[in-house]
Amino acid sequence: MEQLLGEMTLVEKLGQMTMLAASLVVTGPPGPDNPATKVRQGRVGGLLNTWGHDEIREAQRVALEETRLKIPLYFGVDVLHGHRTIYPIPLAEACAFDRDLWRRTARESADEATRDGIQMTFAPMLDVCRDPRWGRISECAGEDGYINAEYARAKVLGFQSDNDHPHRRMMGVAKHFVAYGAVMQGRDYAQVDVSERALAEIYLPPFKAAVEAGVGGIMPSFTDLAGVAMSAHRALLHDLLRVQWGFNGVIISDYNAIAELIHHGVAADLMDAAVLALRAGIDIDMMAGAYEEGLPLALERGLVHIDEIDSCVRRVLMMKEAMGLFEDPYRGLEKQSPGPDTLPHHRASARDAARRSLVLIKNDSDLLPLPRSTKRIAAIGPLADKQSELMGPWCMAGDEREAIGFLQGLREVFAQSDISHVQGAVVDGPSDAQMIAAAVTTTQASDVVILCLGEDRQHCGEAASRTKPEPPECQLELARAIVATGTPLVLVLATSRPWIIPQWLIDGSQSILLAMFGGTEAGRATADILIGDYNPSARLSISWPVNTGQIPVFYNMRNTGRPHDPNNGFSTNFLDAPINANWLFGDGLSYSRYELGDLRVDVATMDETSTIHLAIDVVNAGKQAGEATVFLFIHDPVAQVTRPLIEIKDFVKTMLNAGQSKTLRFTLNADQLRYPGLDLQPRLDDGRIDVIVGTSARAGDQKRVSIEMRRKMRV
Ligand code: BGC
Repeated sequence: MEQLLGEMTLVEKLGQMTMLAASLVVTGPPGPDNPATKVRQGRVGGLLNTWGHDEIREAQRVALEETRLKIPLYFGVDVLHGHRTIYPIPLAEACAFDRDLWRRTARESADEATRDGIQMTFAPMLDVCRDPRWGRISECAGEDGYINAEYARAKVLGFQSDNDHPHRRMMGVAKHFVAYGAVMQGRDYAQVDVSERALAEIYLPPFKAAVEAGVGGIMPSFTDLAGVAMSAHRALLHDLLRVQWGFNGVIISDYNAIAELIHHGVAADLMDAAVLALRAGIDIDMMAGAYEEGLPLALERGLVHIDEIDSCVRRVLMMKEAMGLFEDPYRGLEKQSPGPDTLPHHRASARDAARRSLVLIKNDSDLLPLPRSTKRIAAIGPLADKQSELMGPWCMAGDEREAIGFLQGLREVFAQSDISHVQGAVVDGPSDAQMIAAAVTTTQASDVVILCLGEDRQHCGEAASRTKPEPPECQLELARAIVATGTPLVLVLATSRPWIIPQWLIDGSQSILLAMFGGTEAGRATADILIGDYNPSARLSISWPVNTGQIPVFYNMRNTGRPHDPNNGFSTNFLDAPINANWLFGDGLSYSRYELGDLRVDVATMDETSTIHLAIDVVNAGKQAGEATVFLFIHDPVAQVTRPLIEIKDFVKTMLNAGQSKTLRFTLNADQLRYPGLDLQPRLDDGRIDVIVGTSARAGDQKRVSIEMRRKMRV
């Protein structure tokens, strides 16, 4: 390694620190040069946005045969929720509350991506978000820091280490460091201004978990944080991430982000920007050309030192070595590009993943599951026969022709039923009275209507913020007409974000299924739930607000000096809306009812070294086997700073036959009880802690015990 470094010219060194986009897909503004020429000149270390046998083999051949030092390229793609086989969007998959699933789909994605010559994914995305206006909310694991941390760990292990075959492992790049999910107004790329406490409690823990799990890369966010642009944030990138957390992987800028330091108004030109980014700790410049252009001059002027550049190059070369590229530059690449249908077991897995991610939120009079013998089903709505939308954002290599929409899923699964489809409305645009009338006629002639509303795929993901995260008027008009028919109505919502659903539509729907964007197998998975072949087990990873003015609304709010009291006008309140979300984090139904026994604890007093053991019986009081999701929360009633009324610390899933009961066990130790004190350092107090176990975050579904912390050491 040192020998290779010694042989490199400055241009070649800066080349290793440069990542360029190839042509397959576009995820940002185009770069100035043809990447192939740059590869030939040894001025590129890796490419993004390209995959597949021909593309990768040719690019790698150029690097190996036509460059002076023959250093192999690496290839990175946003494999966010699947590569060829597309799994549910992260916000939906998070609703499965299933660490094994999160790991499995990451391992399978890595398996597929490496066959296409990819060694690096810009995932997992760990930007905790409480704002449905932000299009990128679809990419994260919801509103809670702990859940995002658990998700981070599972994804990193799944991508990087689960596979027994090293050439099927893929390096993860956790992004976007940090607090991108808190962009003001939910407006993409906007300013971020969160407190240090919010960073410590909410936004940093997922990244810490990713680092602890051994993530290979970190990508700083495009945004600023309290005025400091993240691509130049030395205190967080260097002091915290590198020094305090001991992160020794690569830090990769976001797309063109170093050049954007000029727009942020903290750099005068590319050289300035390059110096700031290098000093902050960024090893790889994605698509800005700032290192290549700016660092030679900065060196000449003595603004940076060659040792700083060498450290970055060393890390890039070590990364390539860890990827096995020096040993075999074509590592993992298949002889031909694999199609999605080459891995049928991944499709089965995607169907399972989607079933586990769909949240049943309402089911009056047990309308669902629908009897297999249902005669006439109307599948209505602009999303009823759309495959591509259900794949969601960031499915680069996913082929929409392979995806199964709701209509196809219904037709396959309800094989004995007569299924009629009328679109009724476009996804977004003017409403059409004739389309609505046709939908009404079909609905009136049916025993049940499945009304599929939702978003256009182009309206979610990056650069897709919306001030109104709600159904467009044309869909509401259709819904009004369908509700008015009085036909039993199952509302299926295919969205990438929580939507504001008007009360009349909630009331007018007997059942509501939050399908979100379920990926390649979304249609079959939804039909599996509608017919009862799968008993829904998912719970919301994100709260669905009553209206836009409620945003942000989330489950783990802190108490106030004037706690909410509907009978007290001077308590915290809205005059025109409830303070709680329509559907809260943790909400979700199944076709069974799970009842909890008393919560038992082995010892009621603990200290900083002990672990307490909790046990609770859960019984499936329903008629169908199903998987119960059970959460462990705590509440710290007296602390140095105000604590949330309830905060999640663990969760388990358990399969129960009808009538079966099981004892679930949790442990709790001092680390789980610590919180950032006044000085933001982890703090543990003496005194009472309420431990809460529940099937949701709602008081009625919970059992509680109190324990006492008595520290041995009082410092
Ligand atoms: C996004 C990143 C992504 C990158 C490369 C950027 O626009 O912010 O999340 O990894 O493009 O596609």
